[in-house]
Amino acid sequence: MTTLILGQLLRFHADPFAVPPAEAARHERRGAVAVRDGRILAVGDADAIRAAHPEAAVEDHGDALILPGFVDAHMHYPQTAIVASWGKRLIDWLNTYTFPEEARFGDPGFAAEIAGRTLDLALAHGTTSLCSFCTIHPGSVDAWFKAAAERGMRVWGGKTCMDRNAPDDLRDTARSAYDDSKRLLERWHGQGRAGYVVTPRFSPTSTPDQLDALGALWGEHPDCLMQTHLSEQHDEVHWVKDLFPGARDYLDTYERHGLLGARGLYGHAIHLQERERDRLAEVGAAAIHCPTSNTFIGSGLFDMGLARRMTVGLATDTGGGSSFSMLRTMAAAYEVAQLRSSALHPAQLLWLATEGSARALHAEGRIGTLEPGTEADLAVLDLASTPAIAQRAARAGDVWEAAFPTIMMGDDRAVRQVYVAGWALRPA
Ligand code: GUN
Ligand code: ZN
Repeated sequence: MTTLILGQLLRFHADPFAVPPAEAARHERRGAVAVRDGRILAVGDADAIRAAHPEAAVEDHGDALILPGFVDAHMHYPQTAIVASWGKRLIDWLNTYTFPEEARFGDPGFAAEIAGRTLDLALAHGTTSLCSFCTIHPGSVDAWFKAAAERGMRVWGGKTCMDRNAPDDLRDTARSAYDDSKRLLERWHGQGRAGYVVTPRFSPTSTPDQLDALGALWGEHPDCLMQTHLSEQHDEVHWVKDLFPGARDYLDTYERHGLLGARGLYGHAIHLQERERDRLAEVGAAAIHCPTSNTFIGSGLFDMGLARRMTVGLATDTGGGSSFSMLRTMAAAYEVAQLRSSALHPAQLLWLATEGSARALHAEGRIGTLEPGTEADLAVLDLASTPAIAQRAARAGDVWEAAFPTIMMGDDRAVRQVYVAGWALRPA
């Protein structure tokens, strides 16, 4: 059966960091997305698509804006219940809030509950794909992928490996990190819509031996992604310098252990040396910008100029990030860029939250776009979801001005509908 989803459309045909932003997308005032068997069959002017598919069921969203579902390129599902924890900076925040919470994930029932809760919150906010850190416990990875499969979602995840500078009940070893990760990778990678990600938490919590072991595992499975954290806070960067006296810089602590590559995802990447920027760009790696986290934990201001040199994804980083919403995350990215004297265009923000993150995850052509043949994960946004947003959008001169108040002030109330592989989440 074919379904036609009607509304306004924004279809990107270029990277808005590479061309004038407003020219990167085509606006369809009255558009349609035709969906069949979980994929986008056709997209374009509503009258033309209706004429070509007279037998199709129609779901008409009026003036609402149809976008690809949002893609959250870096988050920690085990931190869902400790989001918005007060008063700490990175290392204290990990020790005070994060590690005690992550220790609870040895209980598979608890892991299943939080995995399901996280995915339901994500969907309610228009996010259809996520790349998550799990915990040290293999069962936390099973819980994540099972919850996603139950919802039909394309997700990535991996066991978070730590063999030092973490509590006793959250430490593995170089050997067990390799063995557990390998087993999980073989169980889940490519199963349905699941992708396994080799996941050393960050250099301070892995010995060189563990980094070597995970670098070897990644080398044996080069089609997998690898995720970690890089240069988030000054104290952390200094700590890394003490722990790895021979390293040229923070990135080198990964590079020398086989953990730098095109499929590498480096969360935060704020306080970088010139060599690190050059190397990330040279190997085609992705920096993942987590703006609500960077302001909430007080980390610093990401340089969005990097997006002209390398792949940049956008992410909530919950629970270091303070919101499940990629709208709020776009707003924070806008604010952080303003603090560095640059104004991101709405086209750049929307692109980062969809195709930009999809590219970072090497899932372009699958998700993050409305192009025919891709997977029908969609978010439908009401651009007048609150009185404050409605009165501002009413003054808009074009679609970008109409969308910007929702980007800056919107939340889950703006998400009118979500489709996962063509299936509507909410009753019409
Ligand atoms: N660095 C190492 N672990 C974490 C984490 O869980 N959250 C954030 N924001 N940074 C980290
Ligand atoms: Zn993180």
